Amino acid sequence: MQKRDLLYAGKAKSVYLSDDPQRLVLHFRDDTSAFDGKKKEALERKGMVNNKFNAFIMEKLQAAGIPTHFEQLLSDTECVVKKMEMIPVECVVRNLAAGGLVRRLGVEEGIELAPPTFELFLKNDEKGDPMINESLAETFGWATPAQLSTMKSLTFQVNDVLKQLFLDGGMLLVDYKLEFGVFEGEIVLGDEFSPDGCRLWDAETREKLDKDRFRQGLGGVIEAYEEVGRRLGMTFD
Ligand code: C5P
Repeated sequence: MQKRDLLYAGKAKSVYLSDDPQRLVLHFRDDTSAFDGKKKEALERKGMVNNKFNAFIMEKLQAAGIPTHFEQLLSDTECVVKKMEMIPVECVVRNLAAGGLVRRLGVEEGIELAPPTFELFLKNDEKGDPMINESLAETFGWATPAQLSTMKSLTFQVNDVLKQLFLDGGMLLVDYKLEFGVFEGEIVLGDEFSPDGCRLWDAETREKLDKDRFRQGLGGVIEAYEEVGRRLGMTFD
C-alpha cells in the first residue's frame, strides 16, 4: 500500500489517497483541539497512541459484526481504511450525563441515563456542529431515513460491545461520538474511536481518562489515554 497525495487535513488527522482507488490512508497527528479549534496543542505520542487505540477498538467492533472502514495498521501513526462517501451527521450516545447535555439541560453531571440517549449533530465546523434531528437530516439531504435508522441501530450495537469492554477494564463509557459512511452501498462505521471522541471515567473514582483532561486543563492527557489502553490489554511501545 503506497501513500499518495493529501486529500484532506482535519483537526487531528490527515487523510491521504493511496495507490488503491478504494482505500485511503489515515494519519493520526499529535495535534489536539477543543472548543471548535479555539484550544490547540500538539501532545507528544498522541498520534501513535490514538492510531493503535483506534485499531484495537475497530477490530473488536468488526469481530462483533459491526462493519467498519478499518483495514490494517500501516505504521505507528497511520492506518489503511476503506474510501467511503461520508455522511455529515455525528451520532452521540450518552450513558451518563456530561458535557453538552449538562450544559444544555442543566442536569447533574454523572447521573445515569436510562435508557441511554441518542443525539444527532451536523458535522460542520463553520456552524459549530449544531444539533439536528431526523427530520432536518432528511429535508436537507444529509442522510436518508433508512440510513439514519441503520446508523442509530449500529451506534447502539457499539454501545453494547464497548460499555462491557471498558467495564471489564474498570471504566465507565460515559458518552461517545460516531461517524458513518457508505461503502459499496452499505453503512459502515468511519472516522476513529479513541479517547479523543468519547468520555471514559474510572469506575471507582470517576477520574476522567479522556479528552476532558485536555479541555479542562487537567494535565496527564496522553498518560490517561495510555492507561485506558493498558487496562484493555494494549501496548504502545
Ligand atoms: O460535547 P458533547 O458532550 O456533546 O460530546 C459528546 C461526546 O461526543 C463526547 O465524548 C465528545 O468527546 C464527543 N464529540 C466528538 N466530536 C464532536 C462532538 C462531540 O468527539 N465534534
